[in-house]
Amino acid sequence: MTIQVGDRIPNISISTMTADGPKDITTDEIFSGNTVVMFALPGAFTPTCSAAHLPGYVVHHDAIKAKGVDTIACLSVNDAFVMGAWGEAQNVEDHILMLADGSASLTQAMGLELDLTGANFGVRSQRYALVAQDGVVTHLNVEAGTGFEVSDAETILGLL
Ligand code: BEZ
Repeated sequence: MTIQVGDRIPNISISTMTADGPKDITTDEIFSGNTVVMFALPGAFTPTCSAAHLPGYVVHHDAIKAKGVDTIACLSVNDAFVMGAWGEAQNVEDHILMLADGSASLTQAMGLELDLTGANFGVRSQRYALVAQDGVVTHLNVEAGTGFEVSDAETILGLL
């Protein structure tokens, strides 16, 4: 079942790239006590994700954080090496926390998986953005199909 507004983000271990290599991080570490914007997408280095979705959050990170957001996180069903390389290529610096859900554990626990097996991508994430306060979802915008209308940085900025 898909996570809903009012639900708590499940506590799942995912990973992120650091100067010392991939590091496990739990969702509790990311979300507890914080206001977090997390957006997710079907894949690092894919066209819409690279040309529009992630760059929008890079452009608007200051405005989003000025609304009281502690962390902006980008989640994809990719490994931490890929997410780290994508973050470098997109100059996210330390403005956006690049999260690797390599086994789709978090994505499946939230019911937000997308089966792209037919395209040889395997199980990935739907494209969405959420806002959570202290681990509880306050806004959730999931795209319909392959759309990109409601999970962009400008739309989320308007919700804050
Ligand atoms: C994209 O345009 O972002 C995309 C294309 C194919 C598969 C996944 C994502």
